[in-house]
Amino acid sequence: MALRSLSYMPSAEALLGAWWYHWFLCLGLPLVVPNSSPVPSQDTNSFTRGFLGLDKCNVCVGTSICKKLYKEQIRFERWLPPQLHLPSDNRTSYEANYTDDSETWRPVVLSRLVSPDLHQLADKNICISAGKRKSCSIEAVLRATPRFQNLDKSNILLPSMVQGLVTPMLRCPSQRLLDRIVHRYFEVADVGSVQMKHFTSKDKLRLLYTLAVNQQPLILQMFPGTEGWPFPRYHGSCGRLMMWAGCRPLRNLYPSPLAHRSDAAYQILHTTQSLASNSLHFHLYYTSVSEDIFGIAEDGRIFIMDASTIGIIDLKEGFQTEADTQNHTDVFSCLSGSCTRTPPCESIRPSQSFTLICRHVLSKLLTSTDVQSSGLPRRVITELTVCADPTQSDQKIHKAVQILKDTLQPFRPCNISYGYRYPECRYSDKF
Ligand SMILES: *[C@@H]1O[C@H](CO)[C@@H](O)[C@H](O)[C@H]1NC(C)=O
Ligand SMILES: *[C@@H]1O[C@H](CO)[C@@H](O)[C@H](O)[C@H]1NC(C)=O
Ligand SMILES: *[C@@H]1O[C@H](CO)[C@@H](O)[C@H](O)[C@H]1NC(C)=O
Ligand SMILES: *[C@@H]1O[C@H](CO)[C@@H](O)[C@H](O)[C@H]1NC(C)=O
Repeated sequence: MALRSLSYMPSAEALLGAWWYHWFLCLGLPLVVPNSSPVPSQDTNSFTRGFLGLDKCNVCVGTSICKKLYKEQIRFERWLPPQLHLPSDNRTSYEANYTDDSETWRPVVLSRLVSPDLHQLADKNICISAGKRKSCSIEAVLRATPRFQNLDKSNILLPSMVQGLVTPMLRCPSQRLLDRIVHRYFEVADVGSVQMKHFTSKDKLRLLYTLAVNQQPLILQMFPGTEGWPFPRYHGSCGRLMMWAGCRPLRNLYPSPLAHRSDAAYQILHTTQSLASNSLHFHLYYTSVSEDIFGIAEDGRIFIMDASTIGIIDLKEGFQTEADTQNHTDVFSCLSGSCTRTPPCESIRPSQSFTLICRHVLSKLLTSTDVQSSGLPRRVITELTVCADPTQSDQKIHKAVQILKDTLQPFRPCNISYGYRYPECRYSDKF
């Protein structure tokens, strides 16, 4: 608990220093300090507070996993041995292993909200927005904005406070959606209310910053896998690094037998259907798609690893079309490196997500070579073409999706390597 708050935290240098030391002892390697002198301060800084972005808090995501770093429950790949390599602080994401019982280690991803270059540029632009050319307190500048002042005074996150942000899920926010963001927000001491009474001013700034830069951590919190959503588990954040469960990339499947690829294709179609239509009545859709957004877990299940481009329409409360011509752009609108907003919600076709996945993902998983070599029905290729074609009607695209699912179903493996559906698949087609 206390470690949630920065003031009680040991300095990041101390924290990471201890962890380094442990690595060397574990590996039985001598602890070599470069140039046999104290570690150059520049390296120390790049590895620690600066590396994590803790020096930028509260213009950061949070501090909920700093304690786990401190307790050596997270280990990064190839950071130290065999040479004393400092991790490059110029990467957007890192693979690591994480344990919560110091026995089983699970793969995780540690990622920044945006690339280090974009973070740097955005920090500079914050200063420029306040008329300061060189440096400034970015926190002070953001706190002084009318947007933050309004939020700071309120216990409710209101649509007016997120207007003009580029985050796709905030394109047409309902109050119900914003309440869910607050309700599930994990980076505060006391999770679970739709009111922000338990948020400090610092918590509100971190939430607003995250909302403005990258929605990924918030989507993972709002729609957890434990409730059946296809997103990886969110573990928390430290400074500007955040951590979630890792998966193998989808592209690893390309050389695999047809059965594996059919199963992935089936799951992607099915998942996309459930995002569009679910008991919460939030329509989650893709605003853009690349094969890299999907990953496969150990048990064969498909996850959406990159939720940063997902848009959300509230099917229950609906949304207001943007009638007002007022300009809500401010410094928060461009912190992600782009000020370009996704198309308005009223222009989103019900078939948009399917067109995108059929065009950019499924066409790589299933090809006409499979028709000749593995007995894939030609119909799959024909229907994929229909599904990927935005000039087709929604109805035709949805029909193609159903035919694709029905045709792929018998190709899906039902054995122990597919733990996400085995053994149930032996007794029922539903799995
Ligand atoms: C995580 O642990 C596994 C098994 O010990 C290992 O093969 C893998 O390389 C580790 N990954 C990272 C990123 O350290
Ligand atoms: C970081 O990486 C980017 C893109 O790969 C590159 O343009 C930039 O020069 C790098 N910055 C540093 C400080 O190495
Ligand atoms: C809104 O205002 C910002 C900054 O004042 C300006 O850069 C932008 O072009 C304006 N956008 C529109 C649509 O008027
Ligand atoms: C499960 O089925 C797939 C596809 O038929 C096959 O490649 C794989 O070897 C099978 N695994 C086991 C453990 O039988």
